[in-house]
Amino acid sequence: MSMIPEVRRHSNVESLSLAAAALVVELAEVSLRTRGRFTLVLSGGTSPRMLYELLAQPPFAERMPWSRIYLFWGDERCVPPDHPHSNFGLARQALLSKVPVPAVNVYPMPGAMAPPEAAAAQYEESLRAFFQAKEARQFPVFDLLLLGLGKDGHTASLFPGDAALDEELRWTRAVRVTSASPPVPRITLTFPVINRARTVLFLVSGAGKKKVLDEILSAAGKAWLRYPAARVRPSERLLWLTDEG
Ligand code: 6PG
Repeated sequence: MSMIPEVRRHSNVESLSLAAAALVVELAEVSLRTRGRFTLVLSGGTSPRMLYELLAQPPFAERMPWSRIYLFWGDERCVPPDHPHSNFGLARQALLSKVPVPAVNVYPMPGAMAPPEAAAAQYEESLRAFFQAKEARQFPVFDLLLLGLGKDGHTASLFPGDAALDEELRWTRAVRVTSASPPVPRITLTFPVINRARTVLFLVSGAGKKKVLDEILSAAGKAWLRYPAARVRPSERLLWLTDEG
């Protein structure tokens, strides 16, 4: 199926984050109406910080029926949750600590668990339990997956040239890429999981991403080979929100 990405250019991170918050609330309503719950995968990096803050405040927070919202992560740095580089830590500080989401609805990746391979395997186990997926070739379908874009074209912790890009069976992988910043091992969801999500929303904020973004969106040349983010093809909707206005 060919999918036409929706691209929305904003002039600053405030306007990008407001648009993203409105979309999250809208998609939550649709999911709750049709499936009775909303499964939301949060992203890492700093781009989503303001979105998280907005979702913790009126008018967005009260439109989120938190008891039926389930939160997951697309990737995590292998650090403890209170470490400044923890993706969970950022979301906890900006959002989770401020809204009535039940702790049992929150599925952080076990960043503090060693080795990363065991942490990745454990996360897949907890996802499989949540989705009641017992067969090897079963995959989850998340309602909404948030992603970011790195200057090298990485997304989640799927980096150019890394073996994790070719994973077909596992839901999660440990990633050890020395060029990653911060340079710590990571845990990531894999493409078979990402590309089965109903909607993927990319939040692209910050300098130095214009070239790679333009290449990905123009679908010219070999973007697909060079940039992992260009391989993201969810089942229903693909949105790119950028502040490269
Ligand atoms: C991570 C990420 C990563 C991130 C991009 C963009 O944990 O590092 O999930 O894929 O989204 O690197 O990061 P910024 O938003 O900080 O630019």
